[in-house]
Amino acid sequence: MKHKMDTITTGTYYNEDCISGAKKHIKSNSIDLIITDPPYGINGDKLHQHYNRNEAFVVEGYVEVPASEYGEFSLNWIKEAERILKPGGSIYIVSGYTNLHHILSALWQTTLEEINHIIWKYNFGVYTRKKYVSSHYHILYYQKPGKERTFNLESRFGLTEKDANDGSLNYQDREDVWVINREYKPGEIKNKNELPTALLVKMMQYSSNENDLVCDMFLGGFSTAKVAIGLNRQAIGFELSPSIFTTKLKEMERIEPGYLLPTLRNPEIEEKTNQGTSWTEEDKKNVKIRFDQLITSGKTKQNAIKILGEEFGRGRWSLEKVLKDQDIQPMAKKQAKRGK
Ligand SMILES: C[S@@+](CC[C@H](N)C(=O)[O-])C[C@H]1O[C@@H](n2cnc3c(N)ncnc32)[C@H](O)[C@@H]1O
Repeated sequence: MKHKMDTITTGTYYNEDCISGAKKHIKSNSIDLIITDPPYGINGDKLHQHYNRNEAFVVEGYVEVPASEYGEFSLNWIKEAERILKPGGSIYIVSGYTNLHHILSALWQTTLEEINHIIWKYNFGVYTRKKYVSSHYHILYYQKPGKERTFNLESRFGLTEKDANDGSLNYQDREDVWVINREYKPGEIKNKNELPTALLVKMMQYSSNENDLVCDMFLGGFSTAKVAIGLNRQAIGFELSPSIFTTKLKEMERIEPGYLLPTLRNPEIEEKTNQGTSWTEEDKKNVKIRFDQLITSGKTKQNAIKILGEEFGRGRWSLEKVLKDQDIQPMAKKQAKRGK
C-alpha cells in the first residue's frame, strides 16, 4: 500500500523505504536540511527477521532493523542522504550509543564533514539500580561541503544578551550539550522516541530559513515534518510502517503552516552603525592601530574588541576577521621574503 500526499503547504510524504524511496523521488542536491532519527536496531534479530524480505514487520507500528544488518543499512541510507543534500546543506542524525559506531563509520565513508557532536540530555532515562542511568542521546551534526552552510548565529539569542550572572545567552545556547526534556503526551498515539518540539525548533532555527526544504528519512511520529511546517519550512520524508504513516498523515492534514512562529523568542540584536558597509583599507589600518593601543594599555582582547565595536560601529565577528587578516598578511609577506 502506498500513500502519497503532495500539497505544498503540508509537505510530501512517502509510505516507503527511505533508501529506495529517495532514489525514486528525490533529486540530487535538492534538500537544505535533513533531521532524522533512524530505528535503533537494538532489539535483536528474531523479532525482525522479515525486514529483509521487504515486509514491514510492525511492532506497535514501528519497523526495526536487525542488529546484524545495521551497518549496511546505515551506510545505504546515509549515502542517499549525502546525495540529496545541497552543497552547504546540514544533516543532524540522532543516535543512541549502541549503534553509534555504525552511524559514524557510515558518515566517514561519505564526503560529509563533521561540524559538531552534540549530546542531548533528556529526562525519563532508562531506570537502573546497579549502574548509572542512561539519559542522553548523540546528535551528529554534519554538512555537505561545497557551499557556505546556513548557521543563523543570532536566530535565538543576540550576541550581547546576558543572563542574571552576566553570562552570554548566545554562548550558552550554542554549547554542545543540550538539556531538553521529552514531551509527556498521555493518551496520544506516539511513535517510539518522538523527538521534542524544542529540540527540532533549535536545529531548524540555526540551520535553515523559511521556505527551505527539510527532509526526515524516518518520519515516525512526523515530529520533524510538523515542526518544519510550523516554522514555515517545506517538509518531505519517508515512513515504512503503513499503520504509523496512516495515523500520522491524518495529523499532518491539521497542521497550520507557521503555527510555531509566534512562540519563538525575539532575540535582541544590536544594530551596529556601520554593519553591512564595506571596509576601506584606511578603516582596517585604524582598527589595528587602535586595537594595539588598547592591548598595550592593559585591556583584554575581549574588552578591546568590545570598545572597538562601540568606536567603529562594527560587529564582533567582522572586527575579529579584519584583525586576523592583518595578522596573517605580514606573516605571509615574511614567508614570501624567506622563500625568495
Ligand atoms: C526512531 S523512529 C523516528 C521517530 C521520529 N523522529 C519521531 O520524532 O517520531 C524511526 C522510524 O523509522 C521507521 N523506519 C524503519 N525503517 C525504515 C525505512 N527503511 N524507511 C523509512 N522508515 C523506516 C520506523 O517505523 C520508525 O517509525
